[in-house]
Amino acid sequence: MEVISDNLQHCNVSAGQDCVNDAGCREEESCKLESLKPPATLTDLIEGLHKIFAHDNVNVELVQSYMSLYKSNYKEWKKYAKPDIHRYTRNLIDAGNGKFNLMLLCWNEGQGSSIHSHSDAHCFLKVLDGCVQEQMYDWPAESEGECQMNVGRVTRVEKNTVAYINDDLGLHRIENPSNSDPAVTLHLYSPPFSECQTFDEKTGHRIECKVTFWSKFGHRTPFGKSGAACCSTPENN
Ligand SMILES: [Fe+2]
Repeated sequence: MEVISDNLQHCNVSAGQDCVNDAGCREEESCKLESLKPPATLTDLIEGLHKIFAHDNVNVELVQSYMSLYKSNYKEWKKYAKPDIHRYTRNLIDAGNGKFNLMLLCWNEGQGSSIHSHSDAHCFLKVLDGCVQEQMYDWPAESEGECQMNVGRVTRVEKNTVAYINDDLGLHRIENPSNSDPAVTLHLYSPPFSECQTFDEKTGHRIECKVTFWSKFGHRTPFGKSGAACCSTPENN
């Protein structure tokens, strides 16, 4: 996984030549936040993300800053918001031309994920409604056998702010800490992945788990066809 921390990615052409990416943008221009139209709507946000991810590398700061600019508007994302009373749901919004998955997660009161990894992908999490709590964990040492996992920081992610994690930063668990209000989050994973690992906090034991979608593009995923059925652990993000 390559992470670029500055706001300008590199273009492999000679000086003076235009470097045009798949989105039809000059590569240097599309890699600066100032060159992107601030996303006034969710549609704008998706369009801008396609431009950003037309590049091979992922500029974490740029994506995080760009996603922060979108101000959550319920009317724009309500068609994807399909909660379930038993567990949180993952609802695919856009498949990002194979470069990323953008999805909306619905968390009823008190619902949370397992402790999980992210399959060597970038994970961006923006809160659209309510707030969520992120509990970090260290990776368990495989040589130590069963052992209580080390707990890291706890962060509340508030509405419209964007959190980021990848496997180099550790593991986490997300939950809606409220017992009175639901929460909705927008997640971007690049590259997309369909499996991750979940962990038992008391033992550090890990299992592989398929990650699935409760709905795709606003439509409930047919049970048993597109992976609506999950493995024995909850769906993870
Ligand atoms: Fe996650």
